[in-house]
Amino acid sequence: MDMKIAIYPGSFDPVTKGHLDIIERSAKMVDVLIVAVLNNGTKSPLFSVEERVNMLREVTKDIKNVKIDSFSGLLVDYAKKAGASIIIRGLRAVTDFEYELQMAQTNRIMDNSIDTIFLTTSLEYAYLSSSTVKEVARYGGNVEHFVPEYVVKKIEDKIISMKKS
Ligand code: PNS
Repeated sequence: MDMKIAIYPGSFDPVTKGHLDIIERSAKMVDVLIVAVLNNGTKSPLFSVEERVNMLREVTKDIKNVKIDSFSGLLVDYAKKAGASIIIRGLRAVTDFEYELQMAQTNRIMDNSIDTIFLTTSLEYAYLSSSTVKEVARYGGNVEHFVPEYVVKKIEDKIISMKKS
C-alpha cells in the first residue's frame, strides 16, 4: 500500500504552539508528516534555517512519524521529490483565507496531483503568529504562553546575542 506522505510547509521563525498543534493533529492523519522550512524567504528572519530546523526537531522529537527538512524553490517541486500528495496548512481566522486560497489554487494549477488540506487552528492559538511572538520578545515580554519551552530559551539567547552585537 502507498504511504500517505504530507508536507507542512512554512517559515517557522520560530515554531509556535499553534504550529505544534497543527503538527500533532495532522501527524495522526498520515503515515509521514514532513515539516518543511522555507529556505528562500524574502523576509529577514530572526533565526537561520538551520536554527529553525533544530528547534522543530527538538519540539517534535516524541512524534514518531514527523520528519523535519528545509526546502528552496517551489513547494510543489519539493513535494513531488518527497513523494508527498498532501500539503497541510493551518487556518487561524478569515484573514488567512485569501492568501491561503491563492497559494492552494496556484499550487494546484502547477501540480494537480497535490491537494492542500486546511486544519483550523485550535481556538486557544487562533490569535498566535511568529511575528507577534518576535515583537513581544523584542520588547522583553514573556513568550511562554506562545512557544514551546525549548523555544523560549532559544529566543532569549537570540535577543541577548542581538543586543550584544
Ligand atoms: O509560514 P509562511 O511564511 O506563511 O509559509 C509560506 C510558504 C512557505 C508555505 C510559501 O511561501 C511557499 O510555499 N513558498 C515556496 C514558494 C512557492 O512554492 N510559491 C508558490 C505558491 S504561492
